[in-house]
Amino acid sequence: MKHLLKLLDLSGQEIIEILNLADQLKYETKHGIEHPHLKGKCLGMIFEKSSTRTRVSFEVGINQLGGYAVVLSSDGSQIGRGEPVQDTARVLSRYVDGIMIRTFEQSEVEALAQHGSVPVINGLTDFCHPCQVLADLMTIREYKGSLEGLKLCFIGDGNNMMNSLIVGALKVGMTVSVACPEGYRPPAEILEFASTYDCFEITDSPKQAAKNADVVITDVWTSMGQEEERKKREAAFAGYCIDSEIMKLAKPDAMVQHCLPAHRGEEITEEVFEQNARYIFEEAENRLHAQKAVLVKTMGGE
Ligand code: CP
Ligand code: NVA
Repeated sequence: MKHLLKLLDLSGQEIIEILNLADQLKYETKHGIEHPHLKGKCLGMIFEKSSTRTRVSFEVGINQLGGYAVVLSSDGSQIGRGEPVQDTARVLSRYVDGIMIRTFEQSEVEALAQHGSVPVINGLTDFCHPCQVLADLMTIREYKGSLEGLKLCFIGDGNNMMNSLIVGALKVGMTVSVACPEGYRPPAEILEFASTYDCFEITDSPKQAAKNADVVITDVWTSMGQEEERKKREAAFAGYCIDSEIMKLAKPDAMVQHCLPAHRGEEITEEVFEQNARYIFEEAENRLHAQKAVLVKTMGGE
């Protein structure tokens, strides 16, 4: 695998192979079995947005694989002063063995991959969050045993998380139902992809989407970079909170996922969050294992 820019670029089989490797690396990590697949290799990490999980899990992950990380933020580097991405790509490719980037425009990630000569991994853009969704699928499979045929429901904004969940879940054979208000639907490219699947539904009714779901997922209503829209969004998403009433419509053994950070009392109630904390924090842990699999597949040249 050359890069991980978006899940649309991967086949269902490739996603499953990443999850299989992630499971193996998790097992090895838990049992103290060393796995220095990327000994001496350097991962450059570019952050143009804030991060807790992505930042720490990638840095710990590359270290566990025998490599190390160099971190650049937009302020404090020439990226924040407008150096073109084509130039950054060609410079960094001469220093590091792979680049993880968190930024705004998907086109910037694609340009980095196009102009650089090392693997590029998308650590979140406005369009998608592939690393998170690999961890989500890994967690669902861990608890449910398999993915095929399960119903995944996402309630909330048609944002990076909804986009990647739709693509990833459909590609691995899940049924997907999403609920979002008019005006906050996923972009046309995602809806076009999803429309080729009979097992995809989009509605403005959270109750409809939650019916018989095996997994219920949400994310913040206001993503990074949208802070000025907060008030407008709070009004638009009223009624889209995952609460115990919504959960009654899902399967009795349904699990809840949240990529975090969570805003209790907005997209999810404190009660539902805490009832599902074991799944949600396993999901956070699995960022580490899923990303190590991605690092091995890309920087290890597999
Ligand atoms: N879920 C996620 O990507 O978390 P961070 O923003 O903390 O990296
Ligand atoms: N949709 C959120 C995800 C954060 C991990 C954002 O983009 O801010």
